Amino acid sequence: AFVVTDNCIKCKYTDCVAVCPVDAFFEGPNFLAISPIICIDCGLCELECPANAIFQHDALPEGQQPFIELNAELALVWPNINTVKAAPADADLWNGVPDKLQFLES
Ligand code: SF4
Ligand code: F3S
Repeated sequence: AFVVTDNCIKCKYTDCVAVCPVDAFFEGPNFLAISPIICIDCGLCELECPANAIFQHDALPEGQQPFIELNAELALVWPNINTVKAAPADADLWNGVPDKLQFLES
């Protein structure tokens, strides 16, 4: 499955949800998670994310492995999202800031 990683936190552009053919995205306060049960590995969302936050599970950047389990867990408890919404006003300021896991709201 594809995995949403650290740089989505506090950016949450949601462009990714518009292209997913199987509605595999689930929405939290400041992050999205992909359900590994629903994702069919089409790869479309990876190209769409302005924050480059989406990777295939076996091609994750160093240190992003914990997001595999995090996506699986959060996708079970958060509501589905399949329409784009406005990003946070300060999203561009947070794009590229490292180690945002400490700011994840659930
Ligand atoms: Fe959806 Fe395809 Fe992304 Fe999986 S890889 S979450 S199926 S757009
Ligand atoms: Fe997050 Fe990128 Fe989607 S920032 S909400 S994974 S478009």
